Amino acid sequence: MRTPFIAGNWKMNMSRAEATDFANALKEKYHDTDVRTAICAPFVHLELLKNIFEGTDIKVGAQNCHFEDSGAFTGEVSVPMLEELGIDYCIIGHSERREYNNETDETVNLKLKRLFASSILPILCVGENLDQRDAGKEKEIVEAQVKADLEGLTAENVSALTIAYEPIWAIGTGRTASPEQAEEMCAHIRDIISDLYGDAVACETTIQYGGSMKPGNATELMNMENIDGGLIGGASLKVDDFMGIINF
Ligand code: 13P
Repeated sequence: MRTPFIAGNWKMNMSRAEATDFANALKEKYHDTDVRTAICAPFVHLELLKNIFEGTDIKVGAQNCHFEDSGAFTGEVSVPMLEELGIDYCIIGHSERREYNNETDETVNLKLKRLFASSILPILCVGENLDQRDAGKEKEIVEAQVKADLEGLTAENVSALTIAYEPIWAIGTGRTASPEQAEEMCAHIRDIISDLYGDAVACETTIQYGGSMKPGNATELMNMENIDGGLIGGASLKVDDFMGIINF
C-alpha cells in the first residue's frame, strides 16, 4: 500500500511573517496521521520552516534546484546547499518553470539524477496544456514527458519518486480535472512506469494530482485507485484549507 502524500506548493507567496504564522498554526493543528505531509516553500523560508517543524512529521521541500553542485550560475541554488538545511523534497519541472524559466525535459532529467544522488527526494511535475487536451493529445504529451524525464533513472530511483500530474488548464483556474480524468491520466502514468520498470516498481511510485485541489474535492480525488496524493497550490496558503485536505 502506498502512503498518501499531500504536499503544499507555496509558489512565490508568503512573507517571512506570514510563513512563520502559517507554520506555527499548522504545527498546532497537525496531528498524528498516516498521510505524508510537506510544504514546498521559497528558498528564503526553508530554514525557518525546518526549525519550526522540528520534532514533527511535517517535511519541507524546495521548488527547484540546479543540477551542478557549484559554480558560475547566478541566482541558482544547488542540491548540496539544500542538503545542508536538511531539506526533504524538491519539486522539479513544474509547468510554471517549464513555461517561464526555460526548464526542459533535459534539465529536468539532470536535476532528477542529481537529486537521486542526494538525500532529497524529487517531486516531478508533468501535465498537458488546454490546446493539447482539446486536440486529444494529452496522453501522448504526458507519456513523452515521463519517458524523457526518467531517462537513465534506475528502478530504485523510480520506486522512491513522486510524480505529480498537473494538467496546466486546472492550475490556479478553479477548474479541477474530474476525478475520472485525473484517475485516467494517473493510471496511464503508472502503466508507462510499469512498461519501463515493471509492475513492482510501478506499484511503489507515488502519483499525485495537482490543479485546484481543495477540501471540497480532495476526498473524491483521493479515493481514486491511482491517485496517491495531491500537490496543492492556492489551498496550501491557508492552514484550515490545507488541514482539510490532509484530513480528506
Ligand atoms: P493550484 O492548487 O493553485 O491550482 O496549483 C496547483 C499547482 O500548481 C501545485 O503545484
